[in-house]
Amino acid sequence: MLNPQLSADGRLKHLITLDGLPRGVLTEILDIAAPFTEVAAREVKKVPLLRGKSVFNVFFENSTRTRTTFEIAAKRLSADVINLNVATSSTNKGETLLDTVDNLCAMGADMFVMRHASSGAPYLLAQHLRNTGRDHISVVNAGDGRHAHPTQGLLDMYTIRHYKQDFTRLTVAVVGDVLHSRVARSEIAALTTLGVPEVRVIGPKTLLPSDVERMGVRVFHDMNEGLRGVDVIMMLRLQNERMQGALLPSSQEYFKFYGLTEEKLALATKDAIVLHPGPMNRGVEIDSAVADGDHAVILPQVTFGIAVRMAVMSMLAAGN
Ligand code: CP
Repeated sequence: MLNPQLSADGRLKHLITLDGLPRGVLTEILDIAAPFTEVAAREVKKVPLLRGKSVFNVFFENSTRTRTTFEIAAKRLSADVINLNVATSSTNKGETLLDTVDNLCAMGADMFVMRHASSGAPYLLAQHLRNTGRDHISVVNAGDGRHAHPTQGLLDMYTIRHYKQDFTRLTVAVVGDVLHSRVARSEIAALTTLGVPEVRVIGPKTLLPSDVERMGVRVFHDMNEGLRGVDVIMMLRLQNERMQGALLPSSQEYFKFYGLTEEKLALATKDAIVLHPGPMNRGVEIDSAVADGDHAVILPQVTFGIAVRMAVMSMLAAGN
């Protein structure tokens, strides 16, 4: 079946999830992102690829990195960027998501970048646009519930490729709260599609999905075992806002068993890199000595995120 994110001729129309996106499309996004990293070094940090287009950032959940880097990326592509302030918008007066969207379409939206607490909200939006004859408007999922955070997955892949080059020679560990993490789902989908031979997930049973093996990963509950010999460590934030009931004894206990310290990092390869999508809980999932240490590539992830989002938006503009 044709991937609904792709047009009949294989061009990207929406970016909702990395699940099912072919390796060629993922690689194309990373390749297109590479020259965009150089735009930041120019005196005039702009290219005209989205000139005349209006990009609406519609974030129903908090964000620092994603919202801001989407805005920078759209501006560097010369788009007009409109940030809907959801906290002061008419959604608080009972307006539905789709009525809000219809009104933004009436203002001339060409692209929506949406974050929502409900899994599936960006998919619903894309479907609504298709059903109402506005399929030329693209939707980018900036994180929906526990489901997906595709541009985070892509910028993580860009970061790994930048430091490690060849995905097919790597052992990668994803550590922590996989159960509630949309980032983990997007990362695992991309890593397996790009040919990483061994993807490990490390975490307590209460924070791993019961069918996690079906994602094509090796499961470890002992972090010391799971980190042995890995090339890439992808730490996850404890998603306290999505936890129901007591899944952990305490954050101190969690740090003792699953917090990344210099001692645990020493079990990985000597040139291992450490990623974290942010925001970080220092002293809960990661020790400051590691977060600020030589192996961490956490701030480069953020910088690469601009180029990756430029690549995605320019491909969507070309595909619609
Ligand atoms: N990684 C990430 O999604 O960060 P923000 O919540 O700050 O956007």
